[in-house]
Amino acid sequence: MATVTECNLAGGLPGVIGSSEVMQSVCQLTRQVSASSATVLLTGETGTGKELIARAIHELSPRSSGPYIRVNCGALSESLLESELFGHVKGAFTSAHENRTGRFEAAHGGTIFLDEINSVSYTLQVKLLRVLQEQEFERVGDTRTIEVDVRIVAATNRDLLDEIEADRFREDLYYRLNVLPIDVPPLRDRQDDISLLLEFFAGMYAASNQRPEPSIPAATIQLLQGYDWPGNVRELQNYVERAIVLAPGNQLTPDLFPPHVVGGGSARTTAIRPRRGRDVESVTRELVGLTMQAAGPGAENLHESTVSRVERELLLQVLRECQGVQTRAASRLGINRNTLHKKIDEYGLGDESR
Ligand SMILES: Nc1ncnc2c1ncn2[C@@H]1O[C@H](COP(=O)(O)OP(=O)(O)OP(=O)(O)O)[C@@H](O)[C@H]1O
Ligand SMILES: [Mg+2]
Repeated sequence: MATVTECNLAGGLPGVIGSSEVMQSVCQLTRQVSASSATVLLTGETGTGKELIARAIHELSPRSSGPYIRVNCGALSESLLESELFGHVKGAFTSAHENRTGRFEAAHGGTIFLDEINSVSYTLQVKLLRVLQEQEFERVGDTRTIEVDVRIVAATNRDLLDEIEADRFREDLYYRLNVLPIDVPPLRDRQDDISLLLEFFAGMYAASNQRPEPSIPAATIQLLQGYDWPGNVRELQNYVERAIVLAPGNQLTPDLFPPHVVGGGSARTTAIRPRRGRDVESVTRELVGLTMQAAGPGAENLHESTVSRVERELLLQVLRECQGVQTRAASRLGINRNTLHKKIDEYGLGDESR
């Protein structure tokens, strides 16, 4: 088996495992952009390693001795995020008992990583645009302008062009952010990396569980290479941890991984296995029967709960087929984009569909 290489091949990055051609290009591009102070926009599905790349950009840059500050823009409400990013002065709002320095000031001389930039409200996007353009801002409740020297790296796991189309993201901010775009490819497009990642995580979790490093049979690697990894490297990492904990001996055999990963089929639809030659009616009958069974005999609103389960699955499958691009999914479904958008929110499909 290949030995773990921290992508230290041509253009490799510390901490980033992978030797596939696509990852080598990502690593090389990352190295190139690190040298400058220009804004980087990281795109890619959930769990592909955007945060790892953001940190590598800082560590390889001339600012590496300065601070590296990460802000998860999706985790805070609009007003909290504003004061987190820009700081506030005492009395700016009811709970502002003291002056507070924001994260932009804290990142002075270093890098700020704005994770989930797509979640920033439209109003706050205006303020961000100004920092990007002028490197200046005011604390909340203050008139004094503060100048900072900060390198901005932003990440999104939503397609910002879709967000612009839906009037949720400003086009001018997008162009300011998209100076140096890096797209981190999904794991299904870099199957060559699976054995290196497996070996890396197996070693890591064996050590933390005080177990000897396990051997990985070729059959395990082959089966894992056939799975489509919607949760990408994070998903693989979690399954390896679980396999290490459950392994009775020191071999990571395929049965230590969930059946939907090594045995085909999807995580949610293992109840119905499509068989060749079955007609749509009989499959539908079975699907409705199973959905009704799952709802339970005393379920209220049987119509609503059954239809919505089926609708949810349909949307999920089409969104995946269209790689989460909502415009394409809406047209494939023959529904309007706004309707699709409402349904995605309603069914909480935001993360799963990508
Ligand atoms: N190439 C890689 N080598 C080693 N570990 C990796 C690699 N890519 C991702 N990981 C690991 O997988 C996990 C998920 O990575 P990360 O948090 O960077 O993903 P992300 O793209 O930021 O996801 P999200 O969009 O959900 O925030 C982390 O534990 C990270 O260390
Ligand atoms: Mg992340």
